[in-house]
Amino acid sequence: MHHLRIDSEDVHSPTFAGRSFEVDVPKFRIPAAGMSPRSAYELVHDELNLDGNPALNLASFVTTWMEPEADALAAETIAKNLIDQDEYPQTEAIHERVVSMIARLFHAPAHANPVGTATIGSSEAILLAMLAHKRSWQQRRRAAGADASRPNMVIGADVHTCWEKFARYFEVEARIAPMSEQRYTIGADQVQELIDESTIAVAGLLGTTFTGQMDDLAGINELLARVEREQGWRIPLHIDAASGGFILPFSRPDLEWDFRLSQVRSINVSNHKYGLVYPGMGTVVFRSAEDLPEELVFHINYLGGDMPNYSLNFSRPSSAVILQYYNFLRLGREGYERIVSTVLANAAALATAAAKIDGLEPVTDGTLLPVIALRASDPAELDLALLSRRLRERGWIVPAYTLPPDAEHIEVLRMVVKESFSRDMVDLLVADLRAAVRELRGAKHTVRRRARPHC
Ligand SMILES: Cc1ncc(COP(=O)(O)O)c(C=O)c1O
Repeated sequence: MHHLRIDSEDVHSPTFAGRSFEVDVPKFRIPAAGMSPRSAYELVHDELNLDGNPALNLASFVTTWMEPEADALAAETIAKNLIDQDEYPQTEAIHERVVSMIARLFHAPAHANPVGTATIGSSEAILLAMLAHKRSWQQRRRAAGADASRPNMVIGADVHTCWEKFARYFEVEARIAPMSEQRYTIGADQVQELIDESTIAVAGLLGTTFTGQMDDLAGINELLARVEREQGWRIPLHIDAASGGFILPFSRPDLEWDFRLSQVRSINVSNHKYGLVYPGMGTVVFRSAEDLPEELVFHINYLGGDMPNYSLNFSRPSSAVILQYYNFLRLGREGYERIVSTVLANAAALATAAAKIDGLEPVTDGTLLPVIALRASDPAELDLALLSRRLRERGWIVPAYTLPPDAEHIEVLRMVVKESFSRDMVDLLVADLRAAVRELRGAKHTVRRRARPHC
């Protein structure tokens, strides 16, 4: 969201010494006349050079590289609108296959009639899942003649912003379990204190945004199963597997975090993270069609045919879905296993080397998810925000931020290792990290030494 500069007369002055542009090009007004495709390309391309280099971006989980064949498919399918199911029936068939493959990967039971859809990302997937749980809860309450006006949901302070967005946009009370000095995830003990008969769902994370750790999903599941048996409260567990949903099935297939847990009614994943496709793709899967109230599904017929639709938006390019299909065929399970194992090995190498740097200590070691969080051994001596800025001077994008309440006094530096991050880059980053830490700690000492003579 931007404050719009509708009265600004800022211009791009003629560039390329007048070879391409003879007049100024306005920045906040549609130009009166156009320009050649080449000139427009150059202007936009050059402006974008000011962005960071995606290959050095360790801040984000999102895919920054795909194979040239995938790029070709992306270009071929960007003009096909995913919503036009009647016009592009094969695209829709592929959409159905992709979501089915994911539901199967997450052990959705076929007899329960699972349903799901591709979304723009995990945020949309989570909003859709929680909206369905809210509506189901309201229906159950009304059928029982009970008050349905004050729904709540239980989440840890370790959730991504999109969870709080759901609470605010869809008017559900967010009951937030705090973190503590040593614990940056939640378990059954924290959840138990907050649930009641008006809890529409509990969120469990397979990979927190802050540290990449996992909530105690089995423990929370057990609690919710017991509560259902003893109190009759049917509280769904939603798993936010935005970042872990394409890691754990390949790295630790025996770890039960998905529909194998009895109370898990819905799962989201960001395909544009470790599904290894470009930004613009997530998935939501419900254990059963019964978890998605029919009144929320729109049946659209004005593009021809009957198109059942559950989404927050309408038109979108089909390329992300096609790219996920490409990856599934291209890599197979074996390919994902190989990539995930290499990414985790690179993350472990980075964690081990970074932990040896004087002044830093690990918060997570990158063994569950390829996410490494480090804190300063002595925050008075090493400012991580400054360290992050120093690394940026070398091109690395490595954010520093504080953990959520009640651990907000802890600042961490987080690095997300992706497929495109090689072992060689691990070594280069560690060398830069070591040099920057040494320099910043040295600067602190120098400042202190200089300050002393005044006393
Ligand atoms: C745990 C978690 N949930 C949800 C999201 C939102 O995902 P998306 O960017 O796909 O909307 C993120 C993004 O980083 C995340 O880490």
